[in-house]
Amino acid sequence: MRASVLVTRASFPDIVERLRAHFDVTDNPSDTLWTQDELIERLQGRQAALTAGSDRIDARLLDACPQLKAVCNIGVGYNNVDVAACTARGVLLTNTPDVLTDTTADFGFALMMAAARRITESEHFVREGKWVTTGRFDMLLGADIHGSTLGILGMGRIGQAIARRGALGFGMKVIYHNRTPLAPEIEAQCNACYVDKDALMRESDHLIVVVPYSANSHHAIGAAELKQMKSSATLINIARGGVVDDAALAAVLKEGGIAAAGLDVFEGEPRVHPELLACRNVVLTPHIGSASVATRRAMARLCVDNLIAAMGVGPDAGRPPTPVNPEVLGELRAPA
Ligand code: DGY
Repeated sequence: MRASVLVTRASFPDIVERLRAHFDVTDNPSDTLWTQDELIERLQGRQAALTAGSDRIDARLLDACPQLKAVCNIGVGYNNVDVAACTARGVLLTNTPDVLTDTTADFGFALMMAAARRITESEHFVREGKWVTTGRFDMLLGADIHGSTLGILGMGRIGQAIARRGALGFGMKVIYHNRTPLAPEIEAQCNACYVDKDALMRESDHLIVVVPYSANSHHAIGAAELKQMKSSATLINIARGGVVDDAALAAVLKEGGIAAAGLDVFEGEPRVHPELLACRNVVLTPHIGSASVATRRAMARLCVDNLIAAMGVGPDAGRPPTPVNPEVLGELRAPA
């Protein structure tokens, strides 16, 4: 019997077609955002789900969907999934690491440069016709990237790719803070220097946040940390909403406590804190860090590879390429 699969968000049509070659597939071409109850209803009797960060997969959902064996989440981050609850029930979780590292690092840089050099503000200035009447030599002055100090909070694959760009491409001094310092040879490759979190906050001219979201990283950048930053500094969050306290950030941006921010992720996204929407010195983007054509396709392909292999089909049957909890392989939940 063909397994039954739910694709929770709209994706490239050929990706869904690839799944249809093996499984009975229901997808969501109109990209409706389902509540968790709606998701549970649609998952009834299905063995696998291709999910996204907007789907909450927790013990309640897993218990209500006893036939679900594999959750294949598109994205490297999976803070929307309770991994322990999956593992305890023999449900496999997969993610899509590596294929997005460089694209996301590029985007972190783009956001940093846009915020520091006031590109969004400048564009509004031109579009609103202000240049014609108020163009001045000393207008829209920003902060330099080259030769400045780049701080990185979270030094995983994406953090390291950002460090290499900063040190090699822009002659930046790179400092970082992480739960554990990098091995000396990797640190040397990245030209990066480990510092404690207080030094990171105080010394960075541009601080990029790339740490995964967890209970430990919730509001890792809050009012106290923002107070430590230079008034000329830029803060960039490409990690997850909730790592930065958005309300505290909006207050600091408004008072001029830091110069600018660039945010791709938000607490409670897709909604954005109204005080942030009111700030001119923040560049806002809708969680598109990995959104290049090639990378979004590669993520979708890897996600489908995982799902097909997890369901015991194809040349990699039983060996999905990027499992998060590989310990459940071989003992996946039996059909209820
Ligand atoms: C990721 O891969 O985690 C991106 O943020 C997309 O969710």
